[in-house]
Amino acid sequence: MSMLITGITELVTGEEGADGAVEDPLHAGLGVLRDAAIVIGGGGEDSAATVEWVGPAAQAPAADWAIDLEGRSVVPGFVDSHSHLVFAGDRSAEFAARMSGTPYDGGGIAVTVEATRAASDHELRTLLQRRVQEMRAQGTTTVEVKSGYGLTVEDEVRALRLAKEVTDEVTYLGAHVVPPDRRDEAGRAAYLDLVCGQMLQACAPHARWVDVFCEPASPHAFDGDESRRVLEAGRQAGLELRVHGNQLGEGPGVQLAVELGAASVDHCTFLADAEVEALAGSDTVATLLPGVEFSTRQPYPDARRLLDAGVQVALASDCNPGTCYSSSMPLMIALAVREMGMTPAEALRAATVGASKALRRNDIGRIAVGLRADFAVVDAPSWLHIPYRVGVPIVRTLEV
Ligand code: NIG
Ligand code: FE
Repeated sequence: MSMLITGITELVTGEEGADGAVEDPLHAGLGVLRDAAIVIGGGGEDSAATVEWVGPAAQAPAADWAIDLEGRSVVPGFVDSHSHLVFAGDRSAEFAARMSGTPYDGGGIAVTVEATRAASDHELRTLLQRRVQEMRAQGTTTVEVKSGYGLTVEDEVRALRLAKEVTDEVTYLGAHVVPPDRRDEAGRAAYLDLVCGQMLQACAPHARWVDVFCEPASPHAFDGDESRRVLEAGRQAGLELRVHGNQLGEGPGVQLAVELGAASVDHCTFLADAEVEALAGSDTVATLLPGVEFSTRQPYPDARRLLDAGVQVALASDCNPGTCYSSSMPLMIALAVREMGMTPAEALRAATVGASKALRRNDIGRIAVGLRADFAVVDAPSWLHIPYRVGVPIVRTLEV
């Protein structure tokens, strides 16, 4: 069965240089087609629908079914390449304290760890599913999900198993923080041994990625040498690498990510020139998480500086109970435009095709023949309304 989708005022394909794409610099790099149509086909119980044809509505082929979007726009489904969705408990009071000046240092993670360990599988699964649905409702069609609120072998495996129920992009983050009861020197060393040994062996079969919170500025997180050990052990166990780096201050995270060939280094809030250069000469994507700066009152990362240096940039939500409890990619795009010096086109690219690179995927983040029919509908004549109509729920996933 095939379906023809018409009534698309602007179709963002994400294919630079797509045939007939609008040349206006406002849409640079997005491959925008005006008055377009899409034909999708296949799709059933165990296979996703794929795109069979994309082009001007006037040339669209016939199909078995048709829907008319009546003057809306279509963009590739957002790729949220960084989230921590498997958790229980509530830290809204910590957010309120931050808004009146208390700085973030990662200490609150222990609160979530306690609540998450105490939750049943059913409770955690329900919370996770609700958060994923919330994302889908706002146009996100691919999400990466990390563990990191279990911090015992059993609790980390449980988090990864649950994450795997909702996505293939599952990340082992046993090295989120040193658990609070292990913060003396011996306890810290023993925890690192566990994360790189028994916990890794138990977790690796359930994950694609390994990540570490590399942040010497936080007493709870890991320094450069510890992070290197975690990443090398993860790679040895068959996992690919991602890093939380340079969130709270300048530090070794970015250089380590580049040196080890990580797919992405996330946060990048505090960068020296040498780090910008290192990123520019690498395949490591700088994933910016503006919701975190919004929710922690830190300065926003300077996306303009990264883009001008030729760094590959992605945007993600980092949806988590501590530093950003927002799952909204439209909000991240709006913040990137308003606060980080990105043009709307750069921000949309970073939230779609840019983020697909942060997951080393080339089958998502664009709308092209042969790819999965993963797109979001914008209830507006132009995709530009995503940052323009900030806070208004005009983006939704098209369920076909
Ligand atoms: O990406 N920085 C480390 N991890 C999360 C925050 C986790 C939390 O505070 O619960 C982040 O910001
Ligand atoms: Fe994070």
